[in-house]
Amino acid sequence: MSRPITSPLVIATHNPGKLREMRELLAPFGIEARSAGELGLPEPEETGTTFAENAAIKARAAAEATGLPAFADDSGLCVHALDGAPGIFSARWAGPTKNFSGAMARIAGELDRRGITEADRRAHFVSALVVAWPDGHEELFEGRVFGRLVPPRGSLGFGYDPIFQPDGHDRTFGEMPSEEKHGLTDTPLSHRARAFAALAAQCLRRG
Ligand code: IMP
Repeated sequence: MSRPITSPLVIATHNPGKLREMRELLAPFGIEARSAGELGLPEPEETGTTFAENAAIKARAAAEATGLPAFADDSGLCVHALDGAPGIFSARWAGPTKNFSGAMARIAGELDRRGITEADRRAHFVSALVVAWPDGHEELFEGRVFGRLVPPRGSLGFGYDPIFQPDGHDRTFGEMPSEEKHGLTDTPLSHRARAFAALAAQCLRRG
């Protein structure tokens, strides 16, 4: 087993959608979680070139600022016909006003311009989870979910959920309640739930 996670744990995110999902995933393990937002921590600049580097930057900054173990996710949508864009820039494509309708329309526009047919609109979500301890120890776990892009459907979830239909399902993430998006009652489905399952197997014990 890797180093076990103990309470309290800082969730190093200012994104309310991610915070809610991380709390749901941590709940069965009895871990007391505080968010970077609640603790008034600044958001570090994400200067990494990979999801894993950016997750480590966020987790490390929160662990150093609080003296507590900290947990961060860096994630995004990689569109295969767009060479993996928006990828690590997924949040930035929505701009400062977090306009995800605009970001989803931009993806559709780029795919139309390149003449990519519906059947070829392949994409995957990636989640890199890093737990950083104040003494410098770190653990990294990654998860991916593959699927295809469709015109937006559903208003559940957040970000790019309405356009992503995971393989083997006929609904988008935007149409799935969170238990279904994460596969909490079955096998993990979302990228974040898959990364989290690997983390839980190594660093958590059911409370
Ligand atoms: P960051 O990891 O905070 O840089 O931002 C990741 C961005 O990727 C989010 O703002 C969303 O736009 C997108 N994203 C990550 N995970 C999901 C998800 O589960 N559903 C929809 N969009 C997501």
